[in-house]
Amino acid sequence: MKLFLDTANVDQVAEIAAWGVLDGVTTNPSLVAKEGQDFKETVLKMCALVPCVSAQVTAEDAEGMQKQAVSYSKWHKHVVVKVPMTVEGLKTLRFCKGKGIRTNCTLLFSVEQAVLAAKAGATMLSPFVGRIDDAGGDGMELIAKILQAFEHYAFETEVLVASVRKPEHVERAAILGAHIATIPYAVFKKLPLHPLTDAGLKKFMDDWAKVAS
Ligand code: E4P
Repeated sequence: MKLFLDTANVDQVAEIAAWGVLDGVTTNPSLVAKEGQDFKETVLKMCALVPCVSAQVTAEDAEGMQKQAVSYSKWHKHVVVKVPMTVEGLKTLRFCKGKGIRTNCTLLFSVEQAVLAAKAGATMLSPFVGRIDDAGGDGMELIAKILQAFEHYAFETEVLVASVRKPEHVERAAILGAHIATIPYAVFKKLPLHPLTDAGLKKFMDDWAKVAS
């Protein structure tokens, strides 16, 4: 299972990459706007830290998306072009597949959309589980359904669990066998923690202090 950080903050990427478990980063226009830093510079700094950095196109027509896709892909070999799940996006996924440009199809909310993205040649596709939960649904159920549907076929597309809100999303992604989860910084920081680990370590240290003294 690959773990990505969902952020446009380079310091956060450097911190988590130092743990030795980070496989990539996903950015999006909202995350980039929040940081207020230059987009290309941000992506390039992240590419120096991890092998897979999603950079989202902002054009809405296929021609514009494809122009941006070609341009982003030349920035660095670690760039993955993020393309929204629209008809224009599908055309762009197919175009990128033909050019050998890796893609991440974003804003997926149904099995039908996942099938289209996979058929169009997306390298990975991102169902937004948290936003489905927010709307009163069960985002992880969609992940289960997509993985189940894909068992019938030979799609190479990886399922990337996006819009993660809590460690339980990561737990369920792992149990379901999702290929990737992209995780916000605050949730990533919670993953190594367990109260029994803290209590156990405290007991070991207290006992060791008795031996040492
Ligand atoms: C995925 O690549 C997106 O950047 C992200 O997961 C969206 O999450 P949100 O619903 O928390 O904005």
